Amino acid sequence: MNIDKLNDIANRMVAAGKGILAADESTGSITKRFESIKLDSTETNRRDYREMLFRSADAMKSYISGVILFDETLRQKAADGTPLVDVIKAAGAVPGIKLDKGPKPLPFCPGETVTEGLDGLADRVAEYAKLGAEFAKWRAVIDIVNGRASHNAIHANAHALARYAAICQAGGIVPMVEPEVLMDGAHDIDTCAEVTEWALKEQFQELYYAGVKLEGIILKPNMVISGKKCPTQASREEVAEKTLKVLKRCVPAAVPGIAFLSGGQSSEDATAHLHYMNAAGPLPWKLTYSYGRALQADALKAWGGKAENVAAGQKAFAHRAKMNALAASGKWAQNLEKVA
Ligand code: 13P
Repeated sequence: MNIDKLNDIANRMVAAGKGILAADESTGSITKRFESIKLDSTETNRRDYREMLFRSADAMKSYISGVILFDETLRQKAADGTPLVDVIKAAGAVPGIKLDKGPKPLPFCPGETVTEGLDGLADRVAEYAKLGAEFAKWRAVIDIVNGRASHNAIHANAHALARYAAICQAGGIVPMVEPEVLMDGAHDIDTCAEVTEWALKEQFQELYYAGVKLEGIILKPNMVISGKKCPTQASREEVAEKTLKVLKRCVPAAVPGIAFLSGGQSSEDATAHLHYMNAAGPLPWKLTYSYGRALQADALKAWGGKAENVAAGQKAFAHRAKMNALAASGKWAQNLEKVA
């Protein structure tokens, strides 16, 4: 393993004032997103949508350091025959690949899951590296059921993530380690803080046991936030403060960067939370975005599946990316949102 090479990739992924576009929705997930604009999820429509994003020069060159792709997209060509990976690289961003095969029910733990995909993973990493992927993502899902998560779910997911991370590093690509505590449910922000702290403590212990070198990973965590159905919703400032407190307790300074998921937050909340955290710096690691929904929702709506709306979709994407890039430097302000 060449840790200097991995560290260099990780640093490029969290370059100052940039962040990651998570465009790795599985076919099932992108089909659901397309349903919201009444668009059929054909291979060509999926290609056109993602090509629109990756060719958004304003957004990609200035604000996007990396893009996470689903298998289909990594192998796909743009309408003019250019591989989409080359479109991403030409914009100066690092291509990545979603490696996990999704969360599956965890026996004897009702409502909880463990993410699968380890079998044959070293061979898949080797193939994806040849196709141009320099980093990967694996998402574990921790669901707070009736106010708690089980040790079995936390441990099984942390162990699988650590095995995945070691396989990635041995194969020369940077693992994004994503233990996501879901914001679904009625739990309060302090319950989210407790479960997130537990999941991260367990995660770094498992990474250590697996021999993973922290200089060559990116952590992709949830923010510490009130459950969606909790009657008391914490303020943006409280989310930032409580998230930072948990991260400082759990994430060693050797980790080059932390890139949050948005997890169902509104686009503006996801930006504001990131801003307040960076404004409270200096921090031991880079703190940026690896958003899916919070970067894409406005662009998807503006595009609406119509060729004549490509420029409008790209404009919406560039605006959201710019707002998040400002937040990654602690320089966002609410009034900047109006200039859309
Ligand atoms: P969201 O930002 O929509 O949560 O997606 C990020 C991601 O990659 C989840 O795995």
